[in-house]
Amino acid sequence: MSPKKSESLHIVTPLLESKELSRLAGRRVWLKMENMQPGGSFKIRGIGHTMQEAVSKLGVTRFIGSSGGNAGMAMAVAAQKMNVPLTIYIPTSTKPFMIDNLKNYCADVVVTGENWNQANEAAKEALKQEGTFLVHPYDQPDTWEGHSTLVQELQNQLPQAPGCIVSCVGGGGLVLGLLQGLEKAGWSSTPVLAMETEGAHCFAAARQAGQVVQLAGITSVATSLGALSVSETLFNLSVEKPERILNHVVSDTKAKAASVKFADNMRVLVEASCGAALSGVYSGVINHLDIPQGDIVVVVCGGNIINLEIINTWRQEMSNLTQNS
Ligand SMILES: Cc1ncc(COP(=O)(O)O)c(C=O)c1O
Repeated sequence: MSPKKSESLHIVTPLLESKELSRLAGRRVWLKMENMQPGGSFKIRGIGHTMQEAVSKLGVTRFIGSSGGNAGMAMAVAAQKMNVPLTIYIPTSTKPFMIDNLKNYCADVVVTGENWNQANEAAKEALKQEGTFLVHPYDQPDTWEGHSTLVQELQNQLPQAPGCIVSCVGGGGLVLGLLQGLEKAGWSSTPVLAMETEGAHCFAAARQAGQVVQLAGITSVATSLGALSVSETLFNLSVEKPERILNHVVSDTKAKAASVKFADNMRVLVEASCGAALSGVYSGVINHLDIPQGDIVVVVCGGNIINLEIINTWRQEMSNLTQNS
């Protein structure tokens, strides 16, 4: 039986203390285990909420998407649970196992175009059919609201406001949700540290340029952070309230090293996008920032584009780097 439309599609994730990260940060560090969400990442919180709102408020009868990554997975999981059809347009460059993953949730998968832009054009064409709705991977207000439930859970899981939430930033949907959640919780003096990798650094590029800019391409291994430009809403908020959003760019090497260490410490595999967030503690970024007293929460955003073979390749790269230095 499919759940009622208003039933939440995400789960309450565990908040685990990490002794190793606490040791490195010099204060207690908690891991919000979003990798455990249906669909493999936090994305289901926001995307699920957007899709539920689209059905209940707009009477949508078919969803259209254009993501072969974690956003696409969240759409597929949500659509199946809601019993509403979804067609996903993805480029030929999408990893074959992600196509299989999507198909497992019965999404109509159309592989078209060489890159995301071409696939997205096909998705927009499909929108001409009545009753359809295009689900954006990060830039819809209902998505931010859905992501804000993460902080709502923290209110029940932590005795008091954390000193900082460490996250990663791609297009900015997750960070916008965290900020909204902090505001609602009355924790607005808790800043969010938004980590990103070189080559997927659209937020840092916007901050440097003083306006939203478009990266020429994505060169980072953290492809899930690969939005070419950051949400205008996040950029504007970072200008209005700079104390609420800290930003730091790490190398791919540091993001990969964090994923490898996390696999060893927690026996959990996460993408380099998530490694970027974890590197905020593993590589000591947090220790050099002026942040309020209190515990640190790291959002373990998760991700599907990872397996043991990739972790082992990265581990070998790390060991080669150590030997050559
Ligand atoms: C695992 C993972 N982490 C982080 C992000 C970045 O999220 P946002 O685009 O909302 O900033 C994504 C985006 O797809 C993701 O899949």
